[in-house]
Amino acid sequence: MASIAGGAELVRYNTVARTLHALIAGMVIFNLASGIGGDALEDIWNPFPLHKGTGIIILLLSLIRLGWRFTWTMPAWPATMSNLQRLAAKVAHAALYALMLIVPVTGWIMSSANSKYPISIWGLFEWPKLAVTKGSALAEAAHEGHEVLGFLMAGLVVLHIAAALHHHFVIKDTILRRMF
Ligand code: HEM
Ligand code: HEM
Repeated sequence: MASIAGGAELVRYNTVARTLHALIAGMVIFNLASGIGGDALEDIWNPFPLHKGTGIIILLLSLIRLGWRFTWTMPAWPATMSNLQRLAAKVAHAALYALMLIVPVTGWIMSSANSKYPISIWGLFEWPKLAVTKGSALAEAAHEGHEVLGFLMAGLVVLHIAAALHHHFVIKDTILRRMF
């Protein structure tokens, strides 16, 4: 446990939570960037095989992370945080957890229906496809959902990162340090 100014102890999230947060954060940022910018890169590099495999790994790691989340209580927030800030953080975190599951599942459904290419997990093995028919209502909804919720997630991630940096550099509390 590291110490902070004033001699108090810095109580951090546990190691598994911090490791999973960092791994998933890196991969989600890659998937948002490759999903949004992928078509623009068309002539140079097609990121979608890597996007799909990484998306499935995000789904699996998020399931592990969520299961693990129910086994511990998070360190208390600093007393300086208002009730409104606590509520905003709770809502944003719950929405991020939901999107970490729903966005990859819609991608999986969409790719199962629409793509003739396999879903490869980083070239290591092939991920099974779901029995969804191309052009079906489910395939269309998944495609639409992946796009709309993908952009919603991008906005939320930007806010989440901005909030973390605001805590660290402006409010100067321990919120950022306890997650890394
Ligand atoms: C958390 C994980 C994921 C994130 C954040 C994410 C995000 C995105 C975003 C923002 C787009 C651009 C949307 C658009 O402009 O249409 C996109 C496109 C796409 N994603 Fe994902 N994605 C994830 C997982 C997956 C998975 C698991 C698959 C398939 C197995 C997948 C397959 C695709 C495909 C094929 C496209 C191109 C769709 C099109 O242009 O028609 N994604 N993704
Ligand atoms: C890009 C995808 C990211 C996702 C999906 C994500 C998701 C989450 C979630 C769900 C939590 C709540 C943890 C819990 O209490 O159960 C959390 C906490 C946190 N995240 Fe992220 N995060 C991402 C990126 C980042 C980045 C890049 C930073 C740093 C700039 C960051 C900083 C933090 C911090 C400081 C906390 C702890 C907040 C607290 O102490 O209450 N996150 N994140």
